[in-house]
Amino acid sequence: MAQKFDVVVVGAGPGGYVAAIRCAQLGLSTAVIEREYLGGVCLNVGCIPSKALITAGHFFDKLQHSAPEMGIRLPKGEATIDMAQMQKWKTSVCDRMSGGVEQLLKGNSVAILRGEATFKTAHELNVKSSGGMETVTAKNFIIATGSRPIEIPGFAFDEKFVLSSTGALALSELPKKLVVIGGGYIGLELGSMYAHLGVEVTVVEAGPGVLQGAADPECVQVVARKLKKTGVETLLDAKAKGWKKSGSGVEVTVDVKGKEQTLKADKVIVTVGRKPNSDQANLKGIGLQIDERGFIKTNSQRRTSHSHIFAIGDIACQPMLAHKASHEGVLVAEVIAGKNRAFDAKTVPAVIFVDPEIAAAGMTEDEAKSAGYSELKVGKFPFAANGRAVSLMEAEGFVKIVADAKTDVVLGVHIVGPDASNMISEAALAIEMGARLQDLALTIHPHPTLGETMMEAAEAALGHAIHIIQKPLNQRKEGPSLRANA
Ligand code: FAD
Ligand code: NAI
Repeated sequence: MAQKFDVVVVGAGPGGYVAAIRCAQLGLSTAVIEREYLGGVCLNVGCIPSKALITAGHFFDKLQHSAPEMGIRLPKGEATIDMAQMQKWKTSVCDRMSGGVEQLLKGNSVAILRGEATFKTAHELNVKSSGGMETVTAKNFIIATGSRPIEIPGFAFDEKFVLSSTGALALSELPKKLVVIGGGYIGLELGSMYAHLGVEVTVVEAGPGVLQGAADPECVQVVARKLKKTGVETLLDAKAKGWKKSGSGVEVTVDVKGKEQTLKADKVIVTVGRKPNSDQANLKGIGLQIDERGFIKTNSQRRTSHSHIFAIGDIACQPMLAHKASHEGVLVAEVIAGKNRAFDAKTVPAVIFVDPEIAAAGMTEDEAKSAGYSELKVGKFPFAANGRAVSLMEAEGFVKIVADAKTDVVLGVHIVGPDASNMISEAALAIEMGARLQDLALTIHPHPTLGETMMEAAEAALGHAIHIIQKPLNQRKEGPSLRANA
């Protein structure tokens, strides 16, 4: 006999588990099916383990480079790394978060079915586990089965020499040299982390720059300079051709602007993007429409071509970000419960946990112009003029605010600098609420905090930041777009 539920969620990542909890809160009998780990990629092999190791890398880097100037001396002059302990600590962080998801699901009376789900028909799922096979039916299904790393020809993941992000997050010994193929989110986050831990890192990027299209170009410039300073070599317009074993490590052949180079390293990490898991679970077999990039086609309520099946998170659309997946999880649960909702967020903020961090909400200047805003006010305020940033010894970068010059409505905020990840939520709220520059400038921000840079960037866009010297706007010659202190 098949188990019956109001809602069955497939996949317990940040999309699926959040959807399941919200469904249960709304009084729907709910099950979640998970084949591997509660919390999905995010809590187990993605956001959380990477941020744990990035924190460790940052801490180690500060001990090496900032501590002596602050007057903190290490007994033998230098800090050392116990990689096995670092991994143990990282795993404890992940396990704690994943265990928390289990408690939340149970506490909300969500049935947890462990096993691999496959659609038998559009109304029935098989769940295969070590204990056998069971069948589950539901009035509605939510597909939240996520994505996996893309492989490139000649670099099949063996997780020994050629590592995916999962393997790269699990090294129990620190390598001396790493080659990272792909200078996007993961390549640069993990590349910077290993560089902070003292590893020699070379990034091989196919495009003409790192983080192309992923962030405001001026923000990327700051990070590119810092990568160089940290000792990360970046090969641009470079294509990895193949690799072979060499001694205990690898030799990677790379074509850089038409010239062949050989890079020796202990391991190679391939981070060239992720693809949705839409070729699994018989999604095509039950007739779901899938686009050319592998995303399940959905409408603004994340309803698929079968009206009782919804898709959320990495399997549904870009951006492949955990908070977007969770937002969609809540949305879909509420739609199923009969609420009149659609995906109408003005912005999905994004953070790249590099050094310094990049965070963004809303439009860049170019995007605002393409969207028809002919006159912009752009205000920029440097962390170098912020007391808290200087006292943290992390005064690189800036906050940039892009606003519509006609109305002063904030269109976008781009931050590169310390704790940009935590600062961006204020910008996301401002954009969601249709705030104007004056709202940010006239909100009292506590002192001394990094958040004051947001207020001063808004003041800069209005032409009167206090802690930088600005010419009055009417004495500048920038033309229709007013760039304050750019
Ligand atoms: P997933 O988290 O992928 O979860 C899908 C779940 O479904 C998995 O647990 C899987 O086992 C299960 N599943 C799949 N198929 C089946 C099946 N047939 N039956 C049963 N279960 C199934 N995003 C951020 O926002 N911030 C970050 O800092 C960040 N860092 C990242 C770092 C790395 C190294 C990586 C790889 C990703 C990172 N991401 C980050 C992206 C983020 O992890 C994803 O966007 C997010 O996990 C997507 O959530 P999801 O619920 O759609 O899918
Ligand atoms: P990505 O799309 O961010 O970057 C891939 C990079 O690889 C691009 O710069 C691309 O030009 C390059 N590339 C592609 N093919 C190549 C080749 N053959 N040789 C050399 N370079 C090549 O993909 P990534 O880094 O794998 O991350 C996947 C996704 O995961 C991100 O887009 C993001 O959605 C999510 N993520 C989010 C994080 C966050 O929010 N902080 C952190 C990590 C991942």
